[in-house]
Amino acid sequence: MGNRKDNKRSGAGHSGKGSSNSGPTSSGGQRSDSGSRGPGGAAGKRRPGSGTGAAGARYRGKPTGANRRPTSTPVLTLDEPVRLNRYIASSGTCSRREADDLINQGLIKLNGEVVSELGTKVSKGDRVMVNGKHIVPVDREYLLMNKPTDTITTTSDEKGRRSVMDLLDAQEYGTLGLFPVGRLDRHTTGALLLTNDGDLAHRLMHPSYVVSKQYLIETRDPVDEKQLTALQTGVELEDGIAKADRVSYADDASPTWLVMSLHEGRNRQVRRMLEALGNEVVKLDRVRYAGLTTEGIRKGRWRRLSRDEVAVLYRKVKL
Ligand code: URA
Repeated sequence: MGNRKDNKRSGAGHSGKGSSNSGPTSSGGQRSDSGSRGPGGAAGKRRPGSGTGAAGARYRGKPTGANRRPTSTPVLTLDEPVRLNRYIASSGTCSRREADDLINQGLIKLNGEVVSELGTKVSKGDRVMVNGKHIVPVDREYLLMNKPTDTITTTSDEKGRRSVMDLLDAQEYGTLGLFPVGRLDRHTTGALLLTNDGDLAHRLMHPSYVVSKQYLIETRDPVDEKQLTALQTGVELEDGIAKADRVSYADDASPTWLVMSLHEGRNRQVRRMLEALGNEVVKLDRVRYAGLTTEGIRKGRWRRLSRDEVAVLYRKVKL
């Protein structure tokens, strides 16, 4: 069993929503079956569009689609000196922009000296410390997980709840500084990107880069046409009007199943939008994130993105 501390983000200051560096995670590596029924998986009830479903799936800690071309990008070779912010970002500590903030805050040391110049370069053999911790560049990894229910998207949790990080093989991924990009509620399932590429994560979470997400929603009560229109034109939430980019019935035969696309990522947004209509979400599955779908990935499993998929993400956020 791996040391769960290895899974925590190493340095200071990553603004990844849902990341938390405090406290121990729940005991590591155990896979259970608790999330395996999937949305609509209650006896006799199948979610619209589901095939054989995830029933019976067990978390085995192995990536799905292991035959895909590996996508980790090579570690910085330092054949040429590189800017300090790039070096820090390549350690999975944070994005380059956040690295600049850390430099400005005097939290970075190069060969024992506090760095004050943003343009400082790092060469082979240099020793960089972030907030007192020695960092080294690591391969960049991109995993797409199908998050099961009853898992949280923080990297650690003082209450010992099971985190998505506990589903990863600590030996393989524990030292890479992976973290979830954005957050999903504890009982929301579906597409979740995990990476140590701070620059990409930063942009994917930034509201100015429009990243579309699609949700399959089961509601407690039927949603009528008028309510469907309200979701599309805007419902009032405490933090302002929220509207779907698109929303429709997932299945013409069932007014309790919706498919909704959103580019905003406000906290519990889908649940709150339905609550604003006096309804309640009983199952929420993110079936698509930034064009990536969970197709072929069982709940609690993941696959590495292909190089092309990573390139598409980069283009989407103008990197
Ligand atoms: N909207 C929600 O309400 N919850 C999620 O987890 C994601 C989107």
